[in-house]
Amino acid sequence: MEIRAIDGQIEQVQTEAAVVTIFEDKTALPESQAVLDRAERALGGLIQSLIQAGEIKGKANETTLIHTQGRLAPQRLLVVGLGKREEFSPFAIRRAAGTAARFLRRRGCKRISSVLHGAGMSLSALESARAIVEASLVGIYNPDILKTGEREPRDIEQLILVDPQWDVVSSLQPALLAGEITAESVNLARDLGNEPANIMTPTVFAQRAAQISSEAGLQMHTLEEEDMRRLGMGGMLAVAAGSDQPAKLITLQYKPTQGAGLLALIGKGITFDSGGLSLKPRDGMEKMKNDMAGAAAVLGTMWAIARLSLPLNVIGIMPLTENLLGGRAYRPGDVLHTMAGKTIEVISTDAEGRLILADALAYAVRQDATHIVDIATLTGSCAVALGRLASGLFSTDEDFAEALIEAGERAGERLWRLPLYPEYKESLESKVADMKNFGGRYGDASNAAMLLRQFVGDKPWAHIDIAATDWNEKTRPYLAEGPTGVGVGTMLRLVERMSHPEGG
Ligand code: BES
Ligand code: ZN
Ligand code: ZN
Repeated sequence: MEIRAIDGQIEQVQTEAAVVTIFEDKTALPESQAVLDRAERALGGLIQSLIQAGEIKGKANETTLIHTQGRLAPQRLLVVGLGKREEFSPFAIRRAAGTAARFLRRRGCKRISSVLHGAGMSLSALESARAIVEASLVGIYNPDILKTGEREPRDIEQLILVDPQWDVVSSLQPALLAGEITAESVNLARDLGNEPANIMTPTVFAQRAAQISSEAGLQMHTLEEEDMRRLGMGGMLAVAAGSDQPAKLITLQYKPTQGAGLLALIGKGITFDSGGLSLKPRDGMEKMKNDMAGAAAVLGTMWAIARLSLPLNVIGIMPLTENLLGGRAYRPGDVLHTMAGKTIEVISTDAEGRLILADALAYAVRQDATHIVDIATLTGSCAVALGRLASGLFSTDEDFAEALIEAGERAGERLWRLPLYPEYKESLESKVADMKNFGGRYGDASNAAMLLRQFVGDKPWAHIDIAATDWNEKTRPYLAEGPTGVGVGTMLRLVERMSHPEGG
């Protein structure tokens, strides 16, 4: 898709459709209001009569398509509802942009334009432009990657952002590029999650990572199972034992500066989680193909960081394996020797994420990471607590937690802090080993985070539990069903912020 910004008035730019937004109180944000007022005159009061007839209500994601019949330069005017004015937030703009893109694509519109919704309200023109580009590209994604017959085709060829002020428009280029790159990374993570476990094995994931690394100039290093044995990664090897697919631990290095700091991004990469001998119930198990969403988000983020040439040293670490059953599978009761030297008693083979992350975190510490973020579809408990609306955030460092929450806000990804009280450690006490991997259903999201905490030493660390936000349950006007690519946006903004600590 070609993405441009031009100065002028949107009703004078020839496209197949121009997008404006409206609130439930039938007023609009300034950019849309100006267009609606001018269009109203040109269209002879049509918009008011649609409002009076109750067709335009302004409800969130409502779409009203008006054919302009030559009275405006765009062939159509699409009025998208923003919901209640009191509830307005940048999320509303993302939803409206995604809704518009999906709606117009379905109607075969190839060249569309939009005003900069909300620029100057709660976000800057740059943030508005980036959000619109991102949400449009994320919006038109469809998960039908393996259909051989009719796929929903018809991509939008041109997205044109229009604003009357030349100086605003001429500053937008970096935001348009950042938006495009972010969305492509989000959609990469969604592709990886959509591809089923019989195709997206640890080996295939590694091949995909290798392609991306060579294209983007990242250094890739892969640990094979024999390397893991040498390093004593007992957590990783135990989970991998029940699968015929060889496990991999991929590291991608991005080192643009001689500076001292090193941020490690670690993503859980279970390409299929059956639960192992602690077998999961059958209903919904197919979604466990996306139990590598953390690793996919890390790969996507690394790709974007490199393409945007951000000046911060970052490594991405992706432990990848299946969690299956078989004659060699690990069992409840087994005690594992991890790379950090600590022993873990296995209570549930379905609590496998924390076992592979224990080794991946220790590996990050060994690589001299100064800051560590891990992201994982870790616990059903987090999903029960927060639903699909927010990811769980755990951190021992107040500033780091704040930085992540703010990064999430900018990305349109909610993070909600959950506790890491020292007493959660009691739930991990084992009679035979240093700790056990499951201490009961109560507070398991915090218990799991507390287990991870044992492997990060004293480094600033944050853990993001995406067990519910990784998956969109049903297609919405602005987002297709399935993997969401959550985490890419947040981690990317974190890196942007850490690259420019003064907030530039
Ligand atoms: N991958 C799951 C967590 C999960 C659950 C992700 C639902 C997405 C949706 C994780 O490995 C798991 O199985 N956790 C168990 C742990 C429990 C048995 C100790 C859980 O939360 O039920
Ligand atoms: Zn599991
Ligand atoms: Zn899992």
